[in-house]
Amino acid sequence: MSDIIRVEGLTKRFGTHEVLSGIDLNVRRGEVVCVIGPSGSGKSTLLRCINLLERPDGGAILFEGQDVTALPASRLRASIGMVFQQFNLFSNMTVLRNCMAGQMKVLHRSRQESEDKARYYLEKVGMLPFRDARPAQISGGQKQRAAIARALCMDPKVLLFDEPTSALDPEMVDEVLGVIRNLKGSLTMMIVTHEMAFAYDAADRVVFMDEGRMVEEGAPRDLFLNPRSERTRAFLKRTMRGIGGQVVPVSP
Ligand SMILES: Nc1ncnc2c1ncn2[C@@H]1O[C@H](COP(=O)(O)OP(=O)(O)OP(=O)(O)O)[C@@H](O)[C@H]1O
Ligand SMILES: [Mg+2]
Repeated sequence: MSDIIRVEGLTKRFGTHEVLSGIDLNVRRGEVVCVIGPSGSGKSTLLRCINLLERPDGGAILFEGQDVTALPASRLRASIGMVFQQFNLFSNMTVLRNCMAGQMKVLHRSRQESEDKARYYLEKVGMLPFRDARPAQISGGQKQRAAIARALCMDPKVLLFDEPTSALDPEMVDEVLGVIRNLKGSLTMMIVTHEMAFAYDAADRVVFMDEGRMVEEGAPRDLFLNPRSERTRAFLKRTMRGIGGQVVPVSP
């Protein structure tokens, strides 16, 4: 597998606050990378730099060998899609129109082609029956599945997920994680998540971030069951409280 994304020495500051302090991370084509770490460690900022929602201050981010800052942002965001915690659907449009708008505007697809693709992906995430609903009329889990379909309609090569289940009621988490799990193998994914059992089960590799640095990375088994760094161990201990300090692999 070749690297589809290379992050080299990435730094990002907000004012005097250095939020990313030299991140090096390569993601292979088709790989599923889960990013974990405490609040404020820079996980969202890392994803936002990769698809240029934030401008990096130093280092480089390469997508298929090209410096992302040299690519037009709209083209980059079609190739590297993003799914947000708060869904970010257009509230004044139906689910179907949400899935068509970007295709027509950014990719200049015809209405018919956009609708066909939208229906295809809505079906895939189980949302075709809700195509005429507006976001306010559907549940959080349904909104997030619609948002995932909308991102897929752009034929991205990479999908970035920023805590895709954090805004959901517990009973809706599994339906969304199940959709994400089903995408495995069809595209490259980077997923910031607090769902440790999901990361353990679905990731090819897990990255632990703390205070703007990548502290440790490895296969889920190694990182969760045998962390090398004391900081990783302390974080996992806090996070796993309640499930006996052990990751329980689950299949939603
Ligand atoms: N636009 C911004 N302006 C100023 N500071 C920011 C901005 N965005 C993020 N920060 C700060 O950068 C740091 C890292 O934020 P980031 O959102 O990347 O963390 P995170 O790991 O995603 O945290 P969480 O788990 O809470 O989502 C935090 O201290 C945050 O307050
Ligand atoms: Mg965040």
